[in-house]
Amino acid sequence: MSEVQAMPTTPGEAAAPAPAVHVRHVSKRYGERQALDDVSLEIGRGEFFGLLGPNGAGKSTLVEIMEGLRRADSGTVAVFGESPWPRNTALLPRVGIQTQSSAFFVRQRAHEHLRTVAALYGAPRSAVDATLEAVGLTEQRDIQVESLSGGQRQRLAIASALVHGPELIFLDEPTAALDPQARRDLWEVLRGLKAQGRTIVYTTHHLDEAEALCDRIAILVDGTVAVTDTPHNLVGGFKAATRLMLPLGRLGEDEAAAIPGVDRVTVQGGSLVLETREAGRVLSAVDKLTGLDGVQTRTAGLEDVYLDLTARLTRSAHTPRRNADTTEHQP
Ligand SMILES: Nc1ncnc2c1ncn2[C@@H]1O[C@H](COP(=O)(O)OP(=O)(O)OP(=O)(O)O)[C@@H](O)[C@H]1O
Ligand SMILES: [Mg+2]
Repeated sequence: MSEVQAMPTTPGEAAAPAPAVHVRHVSKRYGERQALDDVSLEIGRGEFFGLLGPNGAGKSTLVEIMEGLRRADSGTVAVFGESPWPRNTALLPRVGIQTQSSAFFVRQRAHEHLRTVAALYGAPRSAVDATLEAVGLTEQRDIQVESLSGGQRQRLAIASALVHGPELIFLDEPTAALDPQARRDLWEVLRGLKAQGRTIVYTTHHLDEAEALCDRIAILVDGTVAVTDTPHNLVGGFKAATRLMLPLGRLGEDEAAAIPGVDRVTVQGGSLVLETREAGRVLSAVDKLTGLDGVQTRTAGLEDVYLDLTARLTRSAHTPRRNADTTEHQP
């Protein structure tokens, strides 16, 4: 088992600042469970980076290793060029952390809790009210932490990660318990932080959100990074079918299936759904047959890419391995 060490700095490279986070060949096992298997990634300063993946994929484990809350079995992690493990006090003021199960001073009122956290980091008291305001907790400032609702506690956890103005912010599913408006409000807070040049590393199961916020995302499946790219490239490179939805009764199923370029026709929720990879051609055929009034189109988004990728990789991971000495092969 090797220690997680800071990357050595090469003489003469001082002009180029180290990336916010550099993870190289990190593996982590809990007993029989290989939670992370040779994960490498680099997160640039000022980047908004999203970690996606199914439950149990290893996102929290990876984030906690970056944060210095967990130790990797092997591999190296550097945060601003320094190892976060063992506990690196020089990094603490520069990093903000919201974990998936945050700890609170439950007997304190919301603003007291945040004041305590701010004091730990030497942040000014003025930051407390501003941060409560930013996460929409001004009205709850005098409520005891244990009496806050689930979403309000989550906001307080986020506030605790932000109050000392860190350069690098780790948020593990920050929007999980938030109502739709609070989620949008947090997006604005995070966009504001990014605009100030801060680096944000966060996990989410909301694909629409990752697509709206992240500069780049990594999709983790079974402890390995399946892909890292911009949402734009991921969606653009995914040759998914476009779905055209027609109000029922406008076109028969057989008639629709006969249109050149239509791959599949189904009836779903009051619509006749035509799947095609030649949307322009099919739309103009539909226009000629029935007109385009009320026709809706839906193109692939990050969610389609994610579902396709994770289903394929999870399936292949669960395909039984054959012995090397057999001549059988998988179709
Ligand atoms: N402290 C632990 N002890 C034993 N196994 C653990 C521990 N923490 C995580 N695991 C296991 O490691 C795997 C990865 O867990 P992790 O919490 O990193 O996943 P995740 O991607 O964050 O999932 P989720 O989306 O549900 O939050 C899971 O199989 C989990 O059961
Ligand atoms: Mg998690």
